Amino acid sequence: MRAWRFDSFGGADKLYLAEVERPKPASGEVLVRVAYAGVNPVDRSIISGRFQWIRLPHTPGAEFVGTVEDVGDGVGGVEAGERVLVMPNLFCGECYYCSRGEESSCLTNPNIEREPYLLAIHRDGGWAEWVAVPSRNLMRLPDNLDFREASTLPVDGLTAWHLLRRARPQPGELVVVMGASGGVGSFAVQFAKIYGCGVVGVVGGEAQARALLELGADYVVDRSEDIAHFVRSVNGGRGADIVVDPLGSATWKTSFLSLAPMGRYVTCGVLTGTTAELDILRLYSMQAEVIGSTVGSRWEMQRVLELASKNRVKPLIDSTYKFEELKSAFTRLNEHGRSGKVVLEVKG
Ligand SMILES: NC(=O)c1ccc[n+]([C@@H]2O[C@H](COP(=O)([O-])OP(=O)(O)OC[C@H]3O[C@@H](n4cnc5c(N)ncnc54)[C@H](OP(=O)(O)O)[C@@H]3O)[C@@H](O)[C@H]2O)c1
Ligand SMILES: [Zn+2]
Repeated sequence: MRAWRFDSFGGADKLYLAEVERPKPASGEVLVRVAYAGVNPVDRSIISGRFQWIRLPHTPGAEFVGTVEDVGDGVGGVEAGERVLVMPNLFCGECYYCSRGEESSCLTNPNIEREPYLLAIHRDGGWAEWVAVPSRNLMRLPDNLDFREASTLPVDGLTAWHLLRRARPQPGELVVVMGASGGVGSFAVQFAKIYGCGVVGVVGGEAQARALLELGADYVVDRSEDIAHFVRSVNGGRGADIVVDPLGSATWKTSFLSLAPMGRYVTCGVLTGTTAELDILRLYSMQAEVIGSTVGSRWEMQRVLELASKNRVKPLIDSTYKFEELKSAFTRLNEHGRSGKVVLEVKG
């Protein structure tokens, strides 16, 4: 079978299309024939060497959907031919957090303080024609959800749903989304509307502004403007109840200054850098909260699948590339001005 691989860390130029043996599902595993896969910033991090301990050669691809082709020993309740989504995170299903339905805090993560516990980091990911995965990672796809749209849900759909839940949105509250045209942002905007919130999308240009208004954002503001001021201007001077910010260092200060009293800042990413200065006096005076969030749980994925199958959320897809065109997909991922996700057609 064909699989995208790299055998030294660096940029997309390190990727090559290799002919490799089709994996066999081990006990407790399932073989999935990949239909579509997402192309995400975490894949860029995997290739760049953020996780230096990864054994090379390696196949990235954190987000993918497809069809079950074979099942290993001891796997029940799944049959060949079923259309499935693969949960991107690894989890034991038994520890303190897994048994509370909080799989993204699974205690078997060997580096829980610094790294997401992702399948595509710890074993080969989905940029391949077939991939073996733990059977507990499978979720059945609703019949009316096509593979291309479904391929955007395992990483960004799930992450956006989990992070909003962590921030406890209430109907009528105001949610500001940084990087609103991105993968996480475009889902966060739609989910905040489902919670009955008002939404401000922070964008980088006219095309992104139009895309976000179509998705249901109440307001858009360009990132070159004074965002904290804009947010107060649309909310009676109060500020945002929630700021969703997956971007890290570059936007932290603006996000924090945009919060209303008792506001919640929530992050799941560090696209522009990992560190920030926290004004503790302002934190307690404003009774604000800073919340971390990563990936999500099976029950949350189920909820996202239901919303997508009922058309209550529409994945925003910027571009679709053929399997052989992965390097062009990567170039698109790295460009500014995208609206939504980059997806790869592996076997449509
Ligand atoms: N922990 C988790 O579970 C998890 C899951 C998913 C994603 N993440 C992380 O979350 C981050 C975002 O992921 P994504 O998939 O949404 O990425 P994405 O699709 O590339 O979106 C990034 C967005 O941020 C905007 N942006 C980039 N630099 C900016 C800046 N300096 N100021 C303001 N806006 C800026 C981009 O707009 P332009 O294109 O116009 O620049 C784009 O709208 C990444 O770091 C990713 O690794 C974490
Ligand atoms: Zn666990």
